[in-house]
Amino acid sequence: MSTKSNQPLKNLDEWEEDLLRRYPQESTKSKRSVTVDTGDSTTANFRNYAAEARPSVREFYRLNHRHQTLEFVRSKRAEYLSLNRRRMSIWEGMEYLNQLVDDSDPDIDLPQIEHLLQTAEAIRADGRPDWFILAGLIHDLGKILCLWDEPQWAVVGDTFPVGCRYSERIVYHEAFRENPDWNNSEYQTELGIYQPHCGLDNVLLSWGHDEYLYHVVKDYLPPPALAMIRYHSCYPIHREQAYQHLLVDEDHEMMRWVTDFNQYDLYTKRDERMDVAALRPYYEALISEYFPGELAW
Ligand SMILES: [Fe+2]
Ligand SMILES: [Fe+2]
Repeated sequence: MSTKSNQPLKNLDEWEEDLLRRYPQESTKSKRSVTVDTGDSTTANFRNYAAEARPSVREFYRLNHRHQTLEFVRSKRAEYLSLNRRRMSIWEGMEYLNQLVDDSDPDIDLPQIEHLLQTAEAIRADGRPDWFILAGLIHDLGKILCLWDEPQWAVVGDTFPVGCRYSERIVYHEAFRENPDWNNSEYQTELGIYQPHCGLDNVLLSWGHDEYLYHVVKDYLPPPALAMIRYHSCYPIHREQAYQHLLVDEDHEMMRWVTDFNQYDLYTKRDERMDVAALRPYYEALISEYFPGELAW
């Protein structure tokens, strides 16, 4: 699976850089109102975003949209959610993720652990609750899926519901034409396999680092922190307000937390170095408030 043609990004951060291009910080508010109000121009905008993406990122979206079928998602859940791969603490998970080396330039690109600490430190600086800081610290640990030879398109990328019609508010929507589910009439009605307002907990999202980590930590954190972890890549819902017909009241409440979290994930300064050793005691203490010494991964 880990052949070059299956791994178009030079590193996982390339997708996140593309998110910044799509959702630049200054224009967040105006962009949002445009996307909510005008369905057609949203589709046109998203066509442009895809067309103007780097070829590597466009190819990444194409592979993601082509391969994330309902059956693929079910198979990955069956493969990973028994959590029997290894046992390790949260901090060990952070160090394990840090082994992720790709074709990026180590002098320019930050180690993964520093993105986690940057996010957590930005949340801490704003005086947010402990569990919010902790969600920032761990939110990308699910990227360890890459260390188990999962292709980039099955680890990162915008997530979206499978088993029902793909929203035109998903970036590079036309690439779904290559997905076998596109031709499955049962899966391509507005509701597909779901009931109206069944709640996001009952919806299968495309497989990636969010859903995996949610299952590792779901017994230990309060619901808003779990929503931040589980849905932070679900831009079609938390940024574009698609799939509202699947949501229940509690989901709307949780999406406000996810949106709140998203500013720290996207807009923390990526070039700022973190003193990992100096920060470690504070974060080890925070981790031990919520988590047991070892978790099942
Ligand atoms: Fe993430
Ligand atoms: Fe992140």
